[in-house]
Amino acid sequence: MKEATDDSTPTNRAPQAVINVAGVPLQEAGSCLIEEPSDPCAIVIIGACGDLTRRKIILALFRLFKSGGLPDPFLVVGTDLNEITTGEYREFIKESIEVMSGESPDADAWDSFVTRLHYLSIDPEDDSPYSSLADVLKQQLRAFRIPANRLFYLAVPPSQYVNVVRNLGKAGLAAESEDWSGWARIVIEKPFGRDLKSAQDLDTHIHQYFREHQIYRIDHYLAKETVQNILMFRFANAIFEPIWNRRYINHVQITAAETLGVEHRAVYYEQAGVLRDMFQNHMLQLLAMTAMEPPSVFEADRVRDERVKVFRSLRPFAVDQIHDHLVLGQYVAGEIGGQTVPGYREEPGVNPHSMVPTFAMAKVYIDNWRWQGVPFYLRSGKRMARKLTEIAIQFKRVPYLMFRNVLSERIHPNLLVLRIQPDERITLTFQTKFPGAKVCLQPVTMDFHYSTVQQGALLDAYETVILDCLLGDHMLFVRQDGVEQCWAFLSPILDACETCADREQSLHFYEAGTWGPRGADDLMQQGGCAWRLS
Ligand code: BG6
Repeated sequence: MKEATDDSTPTNRAPQAVINVAGVPLQEAGSCLIEEPSDPCAIVIIGACGDLTRRKIILALFRLFKSGGLPDPFLVVGTDLNEITTGEYREFIKESIEVMSGESPDADAWDSFVTRLHYLSIDPEDDSPYSSLADVLKQQLRAFRIPANRLFYLAVPPSQYVNVVRNLGKAGLAAESEDWSGWARIVIEKPFGRDLKSAQDLDTHIHQYFREHQIYRIDHYLAKETVQNILMFRFANAIFEPIWNRRYINHVQITAAETLGVEHRAVYYEQAGVLRDMFQNHMLQLLAMTAMEPPSVFEADRVRDERVKVFRSLRPFAVDQIHDHLVLGQYVAGEIGGQTVPGYREEPGVNPHSMVPTFAMAKVYIDNWRWQGVPFYLRSGKRMARKLTEIAIQFKRVPYLMFRNVLSERIHPNLLVLRIQPDERITLTFQTKFPGAKVCLQPVTMDFHYSTVQQGALLDAYETVILDCLLGDHMLFVRQDGVEQCWAFLSPILDACETCADREQSLHFYEAGTWGPRGADDLMQQGGCAWRLS
C-alpha cells in the first residue's frame, strides 16, 4: 500500500498554475491574446516606404503573423513613390524588422511571411495609377483565394489624406458591393485636421467615399494595454468607483513626458506644436478614460459615447484669462542621459525664431456632477527629464485630524498612480504607524507591477489597432464627434495663443532634461497643488 503523502510539501506538489495574490490562477500565456480569427484579407499600405511603416506597421504585422493574429490567408500590398521591385521591397522590410526589433526575423516565420508581401510603385497623390492598384489587388486576391476584403492603411503625411482618399474612392476601391463583394476599411492616423473646421472638412471628404463603419481613426494611446486597463481598474473593482469623484479627489495630474526632441519631424511639428500633437488626442483621451462614467455595456459605441460626454463637459477656457489655465514652454539646450542636446530652435528644419511650444500644462475642469471643482492638470513636453506617462489621483486630506495632539506634522493624503509607461504599474500610497512607542506615521506604497503577472507577450499598441481593425472592432478608435469636441475645446485656445500680443512673453523656456518651465510649477501652486515629478 502506498504511504499517504503530504500534498503540501513542495516535492509532491503537482506542477502549479501561476497564482496571483488572491489565489486565483493567472491566465495561461497567450490565452487572452487573440479573440477570434479575422476574415482573410489584403492589407494595403499607402506610404509603404515611409517612417511610420518602417518603425511601427511592419513590425506589428510580423509579430501578429507570428502569434497567429493575422487571418489565413492574407496578403500585404505596399505602395509608394519609390521605384523598387517587390524583391527590393521585401529586403527593405526585412532590414526594418531587424533595426526595429534588434534581431533578425525568425527564419521559418520570415520565409512564410515574405511570400505575402508585394509592392507597387505609385505616387499616392496621383489618381491614374490607382486603377492599376485595383487590378493588381484583384489578381492577387484571386491568386491567394481571398475574398475581396481590403484594409487601406494611410501611412502618408496628413496633407495627402484628401488626395489618397479621393483616389481610392474614384478607383472604386472603397466599395463594399458589386465588383468588390468583401469589406473595405480605411485606417487614418491623427492628426485629424488642424482645427475644428479642417477636421470637419476632412471628414466630409472621407465620407464621400467611405461610410462611418469603414473608418478607423487611430489614437495609439487608446490601444496601450495600461490605458485600456483604466476601465478594468475602475469598473471591474467595487472599491474605487465610490470614491472616484469630487467628494474624495482633490485633483488629478495627467503627464506625458518624453525625452525625445522633435527629431526629423520639424516640418510637421512647426505646424503642430504640443497642443495639436499631444493634447487634442492623447492627453484628452487619457482624461476621458479617467473621468468617464461607466457605460451600460462594454461595447464600442457605448464606451465611445461616454468618452465623448467627457469632452462635451469640458469647461471652455476663459481666453482673456488664459494664463491662469495654461503654461506653454519651449526647450533650450540641455543635457539628457549625460548627452548634450540642442534647443528646439537649433533643431534641423526649425525656424530659429520659432514660437512653437514643445511643452504645455493646462488646468482643465469638467462641468458635471461627478467632477465639479476638481482640477485636472494635463502636462506634456518633449526633452524632459525622463520618459513617463502617468495618471496621478491625489485624494483629499482626512476630514478631521484626531492625531493632532500627538503628531506635529500634517498627514499626507493618499495618492493613487496609474503608470501608463514605461515600467507599467499601479501604486497606492497610504499612512501606517512607524513601529515604536512614540506615535509616528510613515507613508508606504503598495506597488503592483504589470511585469509580475505578464505571462505571454503583450500586444503593442500598433498590433492592437491592426488586429481590432481586422476584426472590425471600433472600441479603441476615435469617433468623429469625439474629434470635433476635442477641437471645439482646443481651437479657441490655439487661436488665443497664436494671435495674442504677448505671445513672446507667454512662452516659457526650459532647459532640456528638466521637468519643464517654472511657470508650470507656479500654476500648480496657485491651485494649492504640488508637482509630483522629480
Ligand atoms: C505621437 C506624437 O502621436 O506620440 C509624437 O506625434 C510623440 O510627437 C508620440 O512622440 C508619443 O508616443 P509614445 O507611444 O512614445 O508615448
